[in-house]
Amino acid sequence: MFNKKLINKFNTIKTPFYYYDLELLKKTIEVLNKEASKYKFIIHYALKANSNKRILEIIRKNKMGVDCVSGNEILRSIDTGFIAEDIVFAGVGKTDEEINLAIKTNIFCINCESMQELEVINQLAKNVEKIINVALRINPNINAKTHHYITTGLEENKFGINTWQLDEILNKLKELNNLKLTGLHFHIGSQITDLEIFRGLCIRVNEMQHWFNDHNIELQHINVGGGLGVDYKEPQKYSIPDFKSFIEIFHKFLEIHANQKVHFEIGRAIVAQCGSLISKVIFIKKGINTNFAILDAGMTELMRPALYQSYHKIENLISKGLPERYDVVGPICESSDTFGKAVMLPQTKRGDIIAIRTTGAYGEVMSSGYNLRSPVRRYYSDDMIF
Ligand code: LLP
Repeated sequence: MFNKKLINKFNTIKTPFYYYDLELLKKTIEVLNKEASKYKFIIHYALKANSNKRILEIIRKNKMGVDCVSGNEILRSIDTGFIAEDIVFAGVGKTDEEINLAIKTNIFCINCESMQELEVINQLAKNVEKIINVALRINPNINAKTHHYITTGLEENKFGINTWQLDEILNKLKELNNLKLTGLHFHIGSQITDLEIFRGLCIRVNEMQHWFNDHNIELQHINVGGGLGVDYKEPQKYSIPDFKSFIEIFHKFLEIHANQKVHFEIGRAIVAQCGSLISKVIFIKKGINTNFAILDAGMTELMRPALYQSYHKIENLISKGLPERYDVVGPICESSDTFGKAVMLPQTKRGDIIAIRTTGAYGEVMSSGYNLRSPVRRYYSDDMIF
């Protein structure tokens, strides 16, 4: 990903910044589209993973839809040229203003997560005399076996409608004349690397479909969410996720009815590997058992390690020295501002350039201004002129 010319270029740019390899992004999308189109599956990009316009433009040109979780994400999508029919809107706490926006723009479908939400959408649709397509987000009570902060499909999580509420919901829907139930929605968590989990999801979706069919409801679409994990350990070797196996699981195990469409909402697997956080070593400081490599990037630019104790590969792009052990930390006034402990790096010195890999998803979008830090900058491979 980083050749000598590029590293020399990095040396001339003020750090920290995100660097996005758009060629890798395009290749990744190409592979996913190829696999999904075999079965006419519809892919929505989960905008929350990275909402940079340059990235969205590439995704739009490659004919994906989007999955939004806020009114601003809907506005950003429309602004980037996505058409309303390709937008789905999810979230447990949609405000009236956001629902009105979704109604006004005629998006494909609102994924609803509670009884009260259905009632409010119905009322807001009635105010403007429209009938709105909704899907029920079902909480399938499946353990995605990922970090507990990013698992969403267990009954203890705030997401989705629990199956024991469905009778009551169906009764209610009979009264809500401004809603049209068009589909079911599921999303069980993120960074799922065991494909067996998705097989379990398919089986659960089939059960749910049977339940709805038994209640004389035919569903136009099934949305199975996202969640496919990426390889944080070896980003170079596995730069494109195994979309083939992932998609095949759904083809094999999901019972798809005639004329029914299957939708996915994939975020991380599309954008994670194309992004790196590029930073410089400010100081090397001796600790008791380790050296600290103190970077000019911190948890304000990349929050994942502090929030989820997540691993990101750290590379020194300059040094060819012998390996030594470092705690790689940021400058923020928090001990959790640590990118990695006991990381083996070639002997590292002040001024070396460090790449923190696999940060294209949930990196830049989660950055903050804590400690009055400046907003993080970004550069794209297309813009690198040597
Ligand atoms: N659909 C829904 C309803 C979601 O909540 C999410 C992610 C996705 C799709 C996309 O999931 P993906 O394909 O990216 O796994 N900040 C965390 C991840 C939070 C994921 C939130 N929901 C992280 O940095 O790991």
